[in-house]
Amino acid sequence: MRTSIKAGGMTDSTLAAFIKAYLDQGTRLHHPGYMSHQCAVPDIGSAIADLVHGVSNNAMSLFEMGAAGVAAELVVTEWMLGKVGWSPEDSGAILVHGGSLANLTALLVARHHIFPDVWQHGMPQNVIILAPANAHVSVSRAAAILGLGSRAVHALPCDRFGRVAGAQVSESIKAHHRAGRTVMAVVANACAAPTGLFDPLEEIASACHHEGIWLHVDAAHGGSALLVPELRHHLQGIAQADSITWDAHKMLRTSTLAAAVLVRARADLSQAFQHNADYLFFDEHRPGPDLMHYTIEGSKAELGLKVFLNLAHRGEAGLAEYVHSRHRAARRFWLMILARKEFEGLCEPESNLVCFRYADTPGPDSDRLHIAVRNELMQQGIFHLASSFVDNRRWWRATIMAPSTDAPTLARLLDTLVHTYRKLSQTAF
Ligand SMILES: Cc1ncc(COP(=O)(O)O)c(C=O)c1O
Repeated sequence: MRTSIKAGGMTDSTLAAFIKAYLDQGTRLHHPGYMSHQCAVPDIGSAIADLVHGVSNNAMSLFEMGAAGVAAELVVTEWMLGKVGWSPEDSGAILVHGGSLANLTALLVARHHIFPDVWQHGMPQNVIILAPANAHVSVSRAAAILGLGSRAVHALPCDRFGRVAGAQVSESIKAHHRAGRTVMAVVANACAAPTGLFDPLEEIASACHHEGIWLHVDAAHGGSALLVPELRHHLQGIAQADSITWDAHKMLRTSTLAAAVLVRARADLSQAFQHNADYLFFDEHRPGPDLMHYTIEGSKAELGLKVFLNLAHRGEAGLAEYVHSRHRAARRFWLMILARKEFEGLCEPESNLVCFRYADTPGPDSDRLHIAVRNELMQQGIFHLASSFVDNRRWWRATIMAPSTDAPTLARLLDTLVHTYRKLSQTAF
């Protein structure tokens, strides 16, 4: 590769050879054995959109830079708001490059809601965010970036699986207020990345309303369950949140990245960013809506087109069936785990994430062995699992996202795990 950088001159045939070698060394998300990080298994529509964007490069944060891209984004976010149960007239939305940026944006909006002068004057002291300890790392990163400091994220009371104890949220907010802290926002998981479990949104929302606190729901992964009537109950209460993160590049089969920030009151989103760029905005007459007012990015890719083409290809029902089928596969896998004495499961799955482990004696050796087994499978290139540390133990986490992951694959995974665990347990451990 270094030679090519200097010399250039790649031909069709060397390009083909390079792409083949490149793909051979990459991660194959469509492979039935891929069950690791929560990356969408991209569908044809979003791949075509990437190609269109790659050629046209309409960096459409201003309407005049990409009118079609803005139109695609508006129609997609209107659809997403509708799925939550919010009206596009009253609510606001923006697509951004990823769930981390979406969480940062939503918390920035929350910050403006409570401190309208923050853009000019900066943050006061002693401001905190309450979140479950297993909230995605982007929440503490957002706190640091927003000037609260990562230590300003305080843990909400949770059960042993890391689910927020909804009945204790009100008291937790009150206790922090009594201690002289200002609670800027509460963050809830829907679902939590380490476990795939949903926080009790309705109970949390009611506590937040009672205490007058902004509720942000991180539904980066689980938001797509809104498409499936049989799964919507996991998100009961989400419409009472103030802001939501929902990643299309997780369960809507959209290539990385396309994340939605949805805000219940549109004014909160439109007032959170303040700028005076007279080289961009010098003309009272704008040809259409400029999205830059709602986002951290100056220019951005045509993210709406990826989601739109996936929807236009499969239809809402097609994507709903994909989400539902991966939840059903996770449930089947759970039953397989329960049926085998070699394994134990963490908790009945509520999503397409399943945490399980070898039923050995927990402890540091067992934790190390679970990591070694995962690494060995990855080395072999047959199965790629994730891993979580929950309830003081290390678990394997299967993220069942590929449409090709079927029951025989899952049975083979369990057999391979038993074989590899036994083999490795006789060596260094
Ligand atoms: C619950 C949750 N929130 C936020 C994120 C961050 O998303 P991204 O990787 O797109 O920044 C993830 C990623 O896995 C997640 O699972």
